[in-house]
Amino acid sequence: MRPKSWASLAGVAAVILAATFFMYVGSAPAAAYESRWGANYFPNVELTDQHGNKLHFYDDLLKGKIVVVEQFYTHCIDICPLETARLAQVQKMLGDRVGKDIFFYSISIDPKRDTPQAMKEYAETYHAGPGWLFLTGKKEDIDAINKKLGFQDPRPGDRDGHSAHLLLGNEATGQWLRNNALDNPRFLAIMIGDWMTSWTSAKPMTSNQSYADAPAIKYDDHGKYIFFTQCAACHTIGGGESIGPDLRGLTKIRDPQWLRKIVQVPEELLDQGDPLANALLKKYKNVRMPNLHFDAATTDLLIGYMERQSAAVAAKDAGSTREEQLR
Ligand code: HEC
Repeated sequence: MRPKSWASLAGVAAVILAATFFMYVGSAPAAAYESRWGANYFPNVELTDQHGNKLHFYDDLLKGKIVVVEQFYTHCIDICPLETARLAQVQKMLGDRVGKDIFFYSISIDPKRDTPQAMKEYAETYHAGPGWLFLTGKKEDIDAINKKLGFQDPRPGDRDGHSAHLLLGNEATGQWLRNNALDNPRFLAIMIGDWMTSWTSAKPMTSNQSYADAPAIKYDDHGKYIFFTQCAACHTIGGGESIGPDLRGLTKIRDPQWLRKIVQVPEELLDQGDPLANALLKKYKNVRMPNLHFDAATTDLLIGYMERQSAAVAAKDAGSTREEQLR
């Protein structure tokens, strides 16, 4: 591993220590081999993916595989767009391992509306690559899966009853971890790519992906931290469009009240028929800016960070060597 990656791992280790996000699910690791979750635990129900293929949950999707499982639904305007965008970042970092030895599953909790076609469009919006399946099925079957995966307890205050968790699993070794899906993508990629696989193969990461793709986070800047953990899956500041618009220079051209609103309560602008919010929604193929439930103080921090970072990018464009501002 290159020294740079070690340095970033140290940063990630700090996150691991600081956060209590990860917990073992089910049995303790030492006992995992004896009492591992297997065919006797997971319902082997039939699901349909976004391509219309019928697959059995245990036999086809879990058995012998390393998996990352999340819940979603295409009409969600709450937290799932962020989770899905975050997984898309992790997919990029893991490169071609996704679809070979690591599989991503997004299971719909709205099977009525989430037809294979609707899921296919959703998958395309988030650039989901091979090995990332969006799954739907009979409601009772999905309920049974969610129960077994421990997806039944939504976060306190969650309005739509869907939990913001990722489940990482290595079915072959019986190692299962639950993670708060709002975590740093670099940390997730390391967890998924290194830690999970080391149980079986200790295989190094392949050459075509890099943790360095993920932004390093400095914890002394809270606005920056929130931006990287909650916004950077969809936005850059000066790096061009991604799932959402480039936010560079917006503090100069947007009305301050409007900007606060789109960060804090984007759906209110749409409900009020705001022309700019509607035009943006159309331009970004109906991916909605999610409401991430920020209070006024956090919104200030974010807008302050957007302003500073835009100025830093502008200074760099103007030939400034003040690179520390960009790091
Ligand atoms: C799941 C992807 C996603 C996430 C996460 C996300 N956004 Fe957005 N955002 C969008 C999309 C798509 C748009 C444009 C469509 C719309 O406004 O609904 C947008 C629009 C915006 C706009 C208005 C852009 C303009 O041109 O005026 C701002 C400001 C913004 N987002 C800030 C943020 C901030 C700050 C965060 C993090 C707290 C964030 N977004 C998180 C997808 C996202």
